[in-house]
Amino acid sequence: MASSVIVGAQWGDEGKGKITDFLAERSDIIVRSQGGNNAGHTVVVGDNEYKLHLIPSGILYPEKICIIGNGVVIDPEGLLEEINYLHERGISTDNLFISDRAHVIMPYHKVIDRLVEEKRHVDQQIGTTKKGIGPAYMDKTERSGIRICDLMDEKIFRSKLKNNLEEKNLIIEKIYGADPIDFEEVYRDYIGYAKKIKRYIRDTTVQVYDYINSGRKVLFEGAQGTLLDIDLGTYPYVTSSHPISGGVTVGTGIGPTAINKVIGVVKAYTTRVGKGPFPTELKDETGEWIREKGHEFGTTTGRARRCGWFDSVILNYSVRVNGLSNLAITKLDTLSGLDKVKICVGYEIDGEIITDFPASLETLARCTPVYEEMPGWGEEISDARIYEELPINARKYLERISNICDVDISIISIGPKRTETIYIRKAD
Ligand code: GDP
Ligand code: IMO
Ligand code: MG
Repeated sequence: MASSVIVGAQWGDEGKGKITDFLAERSDIIVRSQGGNNAGHTVVVGDNEYKLHLIPSGILYPEKICIIGNGVVIDPEGLLEEINYLHERGISTDNLFISDRAHVIMPYHKVIDRLVEEKRHVDQQIGTTKKGIGPAYMDKTERSGIRICDLMDEKIFRSKLKNNLEEKNLIIEKIYGADPIDFEEVYRDYIGYAKKIKRYIRDTTVQVYDYINSGRKVLFEGAQGTLLDIDLGTYPYVTSSHPISGGVTVGTGIGPTAINKVIGVVKAYTTRVGKGPFPTELKDETGEWIREKGHEFGTTTGRARRCGWFDSVILNYSVRVNGLSNLAITKLDTLSGLDKVKICVGYEIDGEIITDFPASLETLARCTPVYEEMPGWGEEISDARIYEELPINARKYLERISNICDVDISIISIGPKRTETIYIRKAD
């Protein structure tokens, strides 16, 4: 039995797509367990760049099986667009399977996502991707959601859509003063989508269980990141699912004992999109320099990502709440050319130093980072293929990060391409 979880250790966009692609070569099945097409995972193979949102990054290997688990929320329109995008690039989706228990994102979810954000005071906006993720998960927990298995049955779908839409149109019209959504149009569109996606639908809980029990290697590809977790993230500036490793069990229907390893994907500095406190944020030239050098613009929304120094308070929190067994450090190459690099080792608040990531955002917003400064390295490093080829100062930086959190680094990513990766020790 061998299964590994890949989890984002910060605020998302750590390079999970690249690391999943790298480890997928050594795996048989790649599974998504939460989130939806709010995710944007970039994989670069040779001269081709692929942007995946909903479909596991393993899809680029024709022989690998890819599964979208029950914990994912699925926008069928987005899914079909992504399938077409892959087909146009000669990538097959014959080995893709989608859970019959996954919830469906409906047009009213996307409309409500936008209306709620617009109605919020600008200080209170979350800065969602407007993909309908939050409203879809709300219906799921409220127990009125429509699942893929419902969509596959015209009678059940018609009745559930009718009930839902009556209520959603009241909200859309009466609370937000927007135009109602037409039942027949949505019904017709979604029945059309259902016909096209039917071939992919399975009870994926059985598939994942059987694959694990038969000794196949299963890789769970996380979306978002630890600090975007609805329970353990920087609430309310979070997504509505569980990107932490624990989310994999509920999101795919396997027990925790089926997971052997948890690989934390950690960017060599910190970024976040959307709102919310960010202690090590650099609102200066260095922040701008990192954004430009690291091309820190969102894969899904194109928004500029906020950039800052590496924060080991966050990493230690991530190690704890995910049970990280290994680290995959990404984008180390972005830092080449800086005179100095800084690592935040604690937060100062009211004259005290704290090292546990606080729950209260008001507290977090008052935290001042305590930094350790280290000499940078001038050399570009993307051509390195073994650890020893990295500049000594880059190695010292990595070793310090690993020492602070007491977790081994297994993978170092030094460029977006599959080949720009140093595999130090077995991670999967
Ligand atoms: P994900 O959401 O965690 O999969 O990450 P994104 O794909 O949203 O953002 C990561 C970005 O960094 C993508 O454009 C990747 O191609 C790129 N990337 C990944 N690893 C590296 C790396 O080691 N170096 C550089 N320069 N870019 C990387
Ligand atoms: P990947 O998988 C970074 C952020 C949004 C917003 C908050 C809530 O590419 O790392 P939502 O639409 O989910 O309700 O938005 O979460 N967010 C992400 N930030 N990477 C992501 O995914 C994200 N998915 C959602 O920007 O702040
Ligand atoms: Mg991303």
